[in-house]
Amino acid sequence: MRILMVCLGNICRSPLAEGILKHKLKINGLAAVVDSAGTSNYHIGSPPDTRTIINAKKNGVDISGLRGRQFSVSDFNKFDRIYVMDNQNYDNVKKLSRNNQDKLKVKLILEEVFPGQEREVPDPYYGGDAGFENVFQLLDNACNQIIMKLKQ
Ligand code: 4NP
Repeated sequence: MRILMVCLGNICRSPLAEGILKHKLKINGLAAVVDSAGTSNYHIGSPPDTRTIINAKKNGVDISGLRGRQFSVSDFNKFDRIYVMDNQNYDNVKKLSRNNQDKLKVKLILEEVFPGQEREVPDPYYGGDAGFENVFQLLDNACNQIIMKLKQ
């Protein structure tokens, strides 16, 4: 399975999702390809936001080595599942899809925890520390569900 996590900047939510899922794969002895990207070009080559790095570290996940990149159409070839964080990411990625097969790969990540509710992972960029911890908990739950499915 090849999984891509996508947000807007690729410095807060999606690198965290990538780091959490990789961590859980490792401790469960599972193998999968995991990467992340942003729909914008704002933070290409940048490390994750310092606040995200610190929050992740506090929760036992090291994402300091990750670097931002922009989502590209070729990612539809490289990944089986593309998890987006919110409806804006969803629309941006879907706009780049070339066919129905591409479209079927795109899913809001919180659908894994709250199916049918179309819930979003809120953008923590302009908020305080509580927002980063909230995002961590949401993504931790979502990744637990993804791991459970991979085990089946
Ligand atoms: P992310 O958060 O999409 O979770 O990485 C953001 C980071 C940066 C910006 C927006 C969202 N920005 O506008 O620079």
